[in-house]
Formats: sequence, C-alpha cells, structure tokens
Amino acid sequence: MSKSTFYVTTPIFYPNAKPHLGHSFTSIVADSITRFQRLMGMDSMMLTGTDEHGDKLAQTAAKEGVTPQELVDANSPKFRQLMDKLSVGPHRFVRSTDPHHTAKVRDFLQLVYDKGDIYFGEYGGHYCTGCERFYTEKELENGLCPQHLKAPEYISEKNYFFRMSKYADWLRQHILDNPDFIQPEQYRKEVLAILDSGELEDLCISRPKTRLTWGIDLPFDKDYVCYVWFDALLCYLTPLNWPDGEEYKKYWPGHQHIIGKDILKPHGIFWPTMLKSAGLELYRRVNVHGYWLVRDTKMSKSLGNVVDPLDMIDTYGVDVFRYFLMRDMTFGQDASFSEEGLVGRFNSDLANDLGNLFSRVLSMAARYFDGQSPAVGAPGEAEKQIQALAANSFRNFQSLFDKFRFSNGLEALWELVRALNKYVDASAPWALHREGKTRELGTVIHTLLDIMRKVALHLWPVMPGTAEKLLAQLGQTIDPDNTNLADEADTFGLFPAGVRLASSSNLFPRIEENKEAQPARNAKKEKAGTPDKKADPIEFADFEKIDLRVGTILSAEKHPDADKILCFKVDLGEETPRSIVSGIAQYFAPADLQGKQVIVVANLPCRRIRNVESQGMLLTAEDETGLTLVAPDGHKAPGTRIY
Ligand code: MSP
Repeated sequence: MSKSTFYVTTPIFYPNAKPHLGHSFTSIVADSITRFQRLMGMDSMMLTGTDEHGDKLAQTAAKEGVTPQELVDANSPKFRQLMDKLSVGPHRFVRSTDPHHTAKVRDFLQLVYDKGDIYFGEYGGHYCTGCERFYTEKELENGLCPQHLKAPEYISEKNYFFRMSKYADWLRQHILDNPDFIQPEQYRKEVLAILDSGELEDLCISRPKTRLTWGIDLPFDKDYVCYVWFDALLCYLTPLNWPDGEEYKKYWPGHQHIIGKDILKPHGIFWPTMLKSAGLELYRRVNVHGYWLVRDTKMSKSLGNVVDPLDMIDTYGVDVFRYFLMRDMTFGQDASFSEEGLVGRFNSDLANDLGNLFSRVLSMAARYFDGQSPAVGAPGEAEKQIQALAANSFRNFQSLFDKFRFSNGLEALWELVRALNKYVDASAPWALHREGKTRELGTVIHTLLDIMRKVALHLWPVMPGTAEKLLAQLGQTIDPDNTNLADEADTFGLFPAGVRLASSSNLFPRIEENKEAQPARNAKKEKAGTPDKKADPIEFADFEKIDLRVGTILSAEKHPDADKILCFKVDLGEETPRSIVSGIAQYFAPADLQGKQVIVVANLPCRRIRNVESQGMLLTAEDETGLTLVAPDGHKAPGTRIY
C-alpha cells in the first residue's frame, strides 16, 4: 500500500549574507517535523533553498563590487552547507536562478496572464527593499517599515499588476472555513484583519528593466522582470515538476509551509490568491513562528548580536543546539536566545534527566546481567503504571508534534524521562540484587530498557545523531521508513532478551556554567567555625599516597540505630561494591542519593562504625548554607582515579 505524503517547506532564504540563527531555526523545525512524519508512517519530504533575485540582492552585489550572479554563487552554497551542519536532510534544495525554475515561473505568469488576472497600470507606493514589498500608509509605523525601521522609498512607475483584490472575499471565506489554514491563531486573525479592512490592493508583480534587470523576464513583456516574491513563492512548486511531474502529483496535495512572522502577508495573502488564480490546490497549513531575540532585542549586524549557528554547533554539538531551539521556543511566540539558557537546559534536561537515566540503567544491566538485556518478566503494579504513563506521554508527544507544539511535546517526553528515574529509585534494583530477587530485578531492567528504546525513537526527529547513539547503546538501530511511532505507544514488553548492551553511557557530561554570569557561585566560604585556618603543607609524595576514586552510589539507607548515619553501597568499578558509612544523614533524603556520583578516599583502613563496615570515606564540602557531596564535573566511569 502506498504511504500518505507529507511535504513541507522553509522560506526560500535570501543569500545576500551568510545564514544566521533565524534561518537555522526554521530549517531545524522543518527537518524535525519531516523526520517525525516519516516515523509516523508518512512518505515525507522537505524543501529549502535560496531566493536569489530582487532589488536587495542587486544592491548588496553592487555594494560589494560583484555581479548579482557572483554574489549568489558565493553565498547560496553556505546555506546548503549549513543544512548539512544542522543535520537537516536529506532534503531538496532549490535556487531561484535554476533554469528549470525560471522557465516554470514564466509558464505560471503566462497562465495567470491568459486568465486575465494580470494587467498593465500605473502605481505609486512605499517600497521597502529589505522586505522587497510595497507598504500601504496604514501598515507603516511612524512612516517607517515595521520590520526594518527604515523609511521606505516612494516609487511610482508603470507596471504589471496581479488582480489580488479580486480574490479577497474568496480568501476570507476560505480562512473562515478552514481554521487550520494559518496557525497559530494570532496570525490567522492578523490576516483576517487585513482582509476585513477592505483595503487589499492588487499586487505589483513586475519591475521595469530601466530600474532593475536582475530577475526573470516576463513572458509577455521583455522590458520587465518579475517581482521577486512572485518568483520566490513559486520555488515551492517548480522543483516538483509542476504541472505534469510525478512528484507534483504525489507531494503537492496537502503540503505545508513553515515561515517566520515577518513574511506572513506574502504567505497568507499573495500565495493563496496566486494559486487560486492558476487553479492549483492550496497549501493545507502555513505554520508561523516568532522571532529569536538576543537579550530581548532583534538580532542585527549593527548591534553585533547576530548568533552564528556554526559557533553553537562547534561548542555544544548539533543535537544540543537543535534540542534547545525546539524546546525553548513556544511555536508562534518570540523567544530569547542566550548561551546560558542553552547550558542550563543542557544540564537539567540532558545531563541530569536523560543522561543520568541511560547511565544508571546501563551500568546496572552491566553489573547485574553481564551487559545483556534480561528476559521480559510478568509486569507488577509499578511496571503497569510506568507503562501507562509512557503510553500517555508518547501519545501526547505525537499529537503535540503534529500540531507544531514542539516545546510541549518535548516536555511530555521529559515527564516520562523523569518518571523513569523515579521508577529506578522506587524499585531499587540494587536492593533486589542484594536480596537475590533476580526475576523481579530482570523485570525492572527489562521494563526500563523497553521504554528507553521508545524514548530514543521519539527523540530522533529532534536529536537524530543522539537518538541513534542511544539506540546503539541499547543494541538497537532505527529504520525510519519501517518504524511506526503510533504503534510504539501501545505495545510494551517487546524488547528482545539477550541483547548486548553498552556497559556505560556518558553522552552528556555536565557543562560548567559560565561563572562570570553567576558570580555568587564563586563566593563559597570556608566551613563555619574554621575560618582561615589552613592545613600545614605536605610533600607531594604524601598527597600521592591518597587514592581518590570516582564512585557511583548504588544505594543509601539510614542506619537502623543511628539517626545521623547513612550506610552506602558505592560502585568503585571493583568486583563488589564498597560499604561506606558516613555521618551525613541530616543533610539528605537517602532516595535522592541513589545514582549520584561521589569522590571516595579509597585506601583508608577499613573501620566498623556502629557495627557496619566502612571501606572508604566520601568527600563533602560544608559552609553555612549546608553540606554537599563532592562529585566529578561530568559523569565518569566508576573507579576513575583522581589526581
Ligand atoms: N526570501 C524571503 C522568503 C521567500 S519565501 C518564498 C525571505 N528570506 S529571509 O532570508 O529573509 O528569511 C526570512 C526567514 O528567516 C523568516 O521568515 C524566518 O523563517 C527566518 N528568520 C530570520 N530571522 C529570524 C529570527 N530572528 N528568528 C527566527 N527566524 C527568523 O524572507
């Protein structure tokens, strides 16, 4: 049976400079939704590309002393390369100077002309070169273009016009009848307000060659070139080989667009009326997102606050960058980009929640089952509960992604990740192991592996490389065209037994936060009551005698007879975990410590404290704000030596 199709586009970007954060974001959204629909069983495809004609390009080229063709030939590849760096793809990439595209634009113009929807006339209006469009008096703010805050140029000349106003009532009705056509709602309302105002004018679709030669010749007048927006919007259509191509027949019906709010009018009004005039099927939905701001200000070259996506990828890795953008913007609204925000998100969601889950479960599977997945067992009440919660999270994720509510979708997935960590704490596999309850222990580990696999599958649209690595750690792969996320939400317990698993996982070592941004963090005081007293100097050889090791707490329990004492089992990478006793019970709830890493003084003589053997000492730091356990900066293999 042939699959349903999903075809989505990004805006076709102006290559008059190198790409920035904004271009990256829209492309990542398009890639994520394309990957998601692929996992939902769709034959899915996305398109991006460069919009290479128009005044703006011609002016930049003149400023740089090159021809427009040279400029676009130099810059278009930067967009194409960025897509690879962003893991956006495989995808279709169109250039509006492709001969195939220019020929099809001329066919389309002729079609609309023959229909009587293009006429010759005279017009004067306020033209913003930045936006490449005329503004009405009403649309200007204090006489300035609202996007570029620059005074537009008044241009009056003879030109060709598309009878856009003729379709205003029809379009208004179409939007009313199809509430989903422009989303989110605030943008639908914005377009309806323009149509309701009754002021929609016809669209000027040409430029006289006396003023601009850089464009596609009109088929019906060689003295004019086509207006850049009329040409650019058709980039969505022409690569599919309209009107007879197989791809056109297959992908055009039900296609969708993703745009930023800056280009709502061309997509909400110009484009559907153009399609209507030519008798083509309209898009199903245009999905409009807000702007990424930097410290609440618009990015601009002059302010020097333009975020270079390549810097972010080089520093944090592409998947972390993708996750942050998808998680931190509520689709439709503006969001503020900051590196501290990205690091905070990394540490909380990726290091603490997801990374911790994989690290704990895989090291337990290594220890208790020799690194192989145990067989499925009969699920108990706790297993049924966590499976029900997982089913619910996956279904929420899927329905939210389908509606472009990515941030909420990821939050739904993370509720599950956090619940899985709690399930580990509550089912205490280390205690089951100690008590010899191997069957129950197997059920817990199997339940975790089974759901973790599904978490990784759901993560693939947003973090493809990471998801593939997580799956590899579980001895699994992803076959996107034969995966069905919808089925995955309903079937549990199918993780195969006897699969070789990775013995540890450390994909997200914590990132040290930028200390300058948080000076308070540096202002640690020495332990109260021991002000400035420093210990006497020792020889290096003496220091070397201390064997400091990284340990992972497998269990922590209150001492049965001593309120202040906690009894730990700590994994130091040795055959058997160490028993360590520490007088820190007043500072911690034992359940919070399971899975945490600590630093252990490993070569102290063994002692008995309140009848429990202690085979080492945990390092702590105390000041007047309380006591913390000293831990490595990022996850380290148990037993790692510290110097
Ligand atoms: N060439 C036109 C689009 C023609 S589509 C047929 C154009 N190009 S553009 O290079 O200016 O790209 C605009 C798009 O880039 C926005 O709609 C949005 O998708 C993205 N962004 C640019 N800056 C942005 C932010 N600061 N934040 C988020 N995305 C923004 O317009």
